[in-house]
Amino acid sequence: MSRQIRNGIVDYLEILQMSGIGEVNKLQPLPQEQNPSAASPAQQSPVAKPEPAQRKTLQQAVLETKEPEEKIIPKKNTETDLTEKIAAIVNSGTSGKTEKIRLLAQEVAKCSRCSELAFSRIQTVFGQGNLDSELVFIGEAPGEDEDKQGIPFVGRSGQQLNDIITKGMRISRDEIYICNILRCRPPKNRNPLPVEAERCRPFLDATLEIIKPKYICCLGTVAAQNLLHTERTIGQLRGKVMEYQASFGTIKVVCTYHPSYLLRSPGAKKDAWEDIKILMNEMGLPILPIGK
Ligand code: URA
Repeated sequence: MSRQIRNGIVDYLEILQMSGIGEVNKLQPLPQEQNPSAASPAQQSPVAKPEPAQRKTLQQAVLETKEPEEKIIPKKNTETDLTEKIAAIVNSGTSGKTEKIRLLAQEVAKCSRCSELAFSRIQTVFGQGNLDSELVFIGEAPGEDEDKQGIPFVGRSGQQLNDIITKGMRISRDEIYICNILRCRPPKNRNPLPVEAERCRPFLDATLEIIKPKYICCLGTVAAQNLLHTERTIGQLRGKVMEYQASFGTIKVVCTYHPSYLLRSPGAKKDAWEDIKILMNEMGLPILPIGK
């Protein structure tokens, strides 16, 4: 008997019992014609009427029927599943960088492991730019504009980052790659939770493994602390070149203030420019005064 049918009968009998109809003597033998295996009247011992304590309700009788043993189907571990999928994408010998990033972005778009973010986002924001770039900028998480457009750094802080890239570094935004620690917008732009950053980390690691940049610029505390697994402040991390050991080699890392902090505190732009010059020097880029 299936669990559903059995439970249905139990519910039904409960109703009957509540209305006083349901109590029956389960031990009462069936009449002869319905019970061919029963002994003949001559063989039968006189039917003893059971004591009330021996009586069972039909409901109990049904409950006592033995359920068929359920097959236990092992649940697939979604984390292992994702790790395997990501590894298959990254290590595919047949697809190029563009296809790998497309497949990875497809996995990101399906991701719902951070239920709050998956519920509140309009879309995921994977990253944008040149997959052959030596330099990757890493921000915190998409904001409202990014969530609407599906592209990182397109709002006001995006404009500030564009100024750093085009007026400071004098390169074009399409020459470099930009992504974030998180691929989803946190509600009301709150800071990413450590568990969210950890869940999203395989996507960041895979992105870096596909692009294989030589340099990373971390924009702000969240990016710097998460990438480098440190609790040091941005004030302690900026102003120098650090090394990050990726699976494919060593990446030089320069941390600086987040563009949105520069919008709130324009006085910090001078320090941010110093950081960018350190990065450019490391990359061998010519350093010119900030252009208009
Ligand atoms: N802030 C970020 O950190 N990333 C974006 O993509 C936009 C704003």
